[in-house]
Amino acid sequence: MHCIEIVQGDITKLRVDAIVNAANSSLLGGGGVDGSIHRAAGPGLLAECRTLGGCSTGQAKITHGYNLLAPYVIHTVGPVWHGGDHDEDELLAECYTSSLALAVAHDLQSIAFPAISTGVYGFPFDRAARIALRTMADFLAQDDTLQRVIAVCYSSRDYAEYLAVQRELGQEPSA
Ligand code: AR6
Repeated sequence: MHCIEIVQGDITKLRVDAIVNAANSSLLGGGGVDGSIHRAAGPGLLAECRTLGGCSTGQAKITHGYNLLAPYVIHTVGPVWHGGDHDEDELLAECYTSSLALAVAHDLQSIAFPAISTGVYGFPFDRAARIALRTMADFLAQDDTLQRVIAVCYSSRDYAEYLAVQRELGQEPSA
């Protein structure tokens, strides 16, 4: 039985097999967590990203982690929030599923996610947290390889919100 860990902090500092980047479809960097990941990884990451030909919303691509503690970065492109009736929920769930499937395909055992789409892309935080935690739990229910799945919250408010959603969904909290 694997639990989903919720932690507060900077995802670039985590020692896990892969950190997930909330990228845009160019995969060529940007602000928010994307900017922080590229800064911490160094120029090798952008050079590798240039070879990938971008990424569609809901899909994911993997690169090395360069100067990060994490050996891999999984880049996924969240949906831009347009009010909720443009498949935003489904596309956000796909980001989590695609990233988790890519981690499994590369035999990775630990992965950390930021709250995809909840910054620049404007997805309401509690709705995104619900989708993230449900999708992770559904995936883990049929997977034996992943040992640690971490939801990283940048602010203490986001952290409290994630814990509240976890309780609401009846998911077992982990230490
Ligand atoms: N560690 C963990 N979480 C973080 C960090 C960090 N270092 N920095 C920010 N967050 P955003 P999006 C949180 O805007 O909404 C970029 O320009 C942040 O508080 O990074 O998917 C891309 O290139 C928020 O909860 O990503 C795209 O163009 C969450 O990460 C666009 O932004 C996501 O915020 C993607 O927008």
